[in-house]
Amino acid sequence: MTAPLRLVVMASGRGSNLRSILNAIGNNDCLAEIVAVITDKPGCPAVEFAAEKGIATDALPLSRGADRGAWNIELAQKVQRFSPGLIVLAGFMKIVSRDFLRQCGAPVINVHPSLLPAFRGKDAPAQAIKARVTLAGCTVHLVNEEVDAGAILAQAAVPVLPTDSAAELHQRIQVVEHQLFPQVIDWIGRGRLSLTGEPRLTGGVDADAHLISPRLL
Ligand code: GRF
Repeated sequence: MTAPLRLVVMASGRGSNLRSILNAIGNNDCLAEIVAVITDKPGCPAVEFAAEKGIATDALPLSRGADRGAWNIELAQKVQRFSPGLIVLAGFMKIVSRDFLRQCGAPVINVHPSLLPAFRGKDAPAQAIKARVTLAGCTVHLVNEEVDAGAILAQAAVPVLPTDSAAELHQRIQVVEHQLFPQVIDWIGRGRLSLTGEPRLTGGVDADAHLISPRLL
C-alpha cells in the first residue's frame, strides 16, 4: 500500500482550500496527510482552523523592510523540518524565491483563480471581468521563480455572468478549486501525476473529467 503523501500546506487567509483538502482526505478521496500548516499571517483563519484540527502549525511573518532573502531561507527551513512530499500553496499571499524552492525539500504547487496563462498575479477574477471574457476558472500549477508561470497541471472552467462582481466570480471559481486541488494532490499521491519532467497524468480520464483538462498520457 502506498503511504499517504506528506503535505505541508502554506496559507495566509480564509483557508477554504485547506478545508477542502482535509475533507477530501477524510473521505478517502485524497491519498495524503497534512503534516503542517505554515503561514506568514499568524492568527489567520487557515492556521486557526489547522490548530483546531490538531495539525502542527508554524508562522513566519515578513515584517516591512525585512530581508526577504533571509525570510525565504528561514521559511524553507521551517517547511523542510516536516519532511514534506509535496508543498501546497493554498492562498499563500507571498511570492517565494528560488532559494526557497531549492531548499524547501519537495515540489511546490499552487492554485490560482484564473485559466492561466491568462490573468496572472493579483485580483485575477477582477482582471477577467475587466477583460470581458465569458469563461474563467482555476489552474493548479507547479511553482517556479516566476509568478503563476510554472507548468500547468490541471484546470477547471466556470462561466462569467454579465452581472458578476469580482467577488461573485471568485466565489464561483472557488467551488471548482475545492474539487480540483484535492483531485490533483490525489493524482500525485497515487503516483498518477509525475512532477518530474513534463507533467503527465496516467490512468485515463476520471469520471468528473468535464471539470478538468489535464495532460493525458
Ligand atoms: C484562492 O482563490 C486561490 O486561488 C488563491 O487564493 C485564494 C485562497 O482562498 N491563490 P482560501 O484561503 O483557500 O479560501
